Amino acid sequence: SQGGPVIAVDGPAAAGKGTLARKLAEALDLPYLDTGLLYRAVARLVLDAGANPTDPAESFAHALVAEDTRRPDLRSPEVTQAASQVAAQPAVRAALVETQRRFAAARGGVLDGRDIGTAIFPNADVKLFITASPATRALRRFLQTGGDSTAPDAQEKLRVMEEALVARDAADAGRDTAPLCIAADAHVIETDTSDAQTVLAEALRITRERLATQAG
Ligand code: CDP
Ligand code: CDP
Repeated sequence: SQGGPVIAVDGPAAAGKGTLARKLAEALDLPYLDTGLLYRAVARLVLDAGANPTDPAESFAHALVAEDTRRPDLRSPEVTQAASQVAAQPAVRAALVETQRRFAAARGGVLDGRDIGTAIFPNADVKLFITASPATRALRRFLQTGGDSTAPDAQEKLRVMEEALVARDAADAGRDTAPLCIAADAHVIETDTSDAQTVLAEALRITRERLATQAG
């Protein structure tokens, strides 16, 4: 591809996509884009306007000005839920396509999300699909957001977190436009029993092999 390789990192919520994609970009000296932030920024604007994130007109209006992903508070449960709601709307996705493609135009890049290898860059040089069981992913998000697994209410909080992840994955996989799914030519990495370093090593091995095959 044009300026440098495009590496797609897709998968369900809290699988470790962002953690991997950031390190992969660093190791390969490529730009990194967390595409979930685009949908979170749209959601934040819709909520701040007091509008309904399932309303297509409101969501689209805000999608046109949501490129500023430095806005605070993009990780709250409320924004997370609304991000998935705005992301289901075709007009919102269409408004964000060019931003994502342009990002990688100059030097390639590592992008993580849901539809990078299927819709944004169907010809990506390398496609990785990062996944783990709902219980593993719920624990990761719980610990990542400061949860204490020894607290008396930890089990209950984990249960609620897992329910929310599973519901969001189902919405993301069930929508008509660019649903969460594994590209036919993606390399699936199951991460239930691997730490982030191990996943990075595996992803680097696959990536270098793919890039070498293409170069030769
Ligand atoms: O981007 P995504 O929602 O897929 O997940 P993340 O925010 O990158 O990762 C969620 C949490 O899992 C972070 O605290 C990571 O340190 C941790 N983790 C990981 O990324 N990879 C593993 N193999 C194990 C844990
Ligand atoms: O970190 P986590 O995986 O929990 O969320 P995220 O990657 O920031 O994505 C938040 C929501 O944005 C997802 O539930 C999807 O509905 C949507 N999204 C999407 O539809 N397509 C992408 N390329 C990235 C995110």
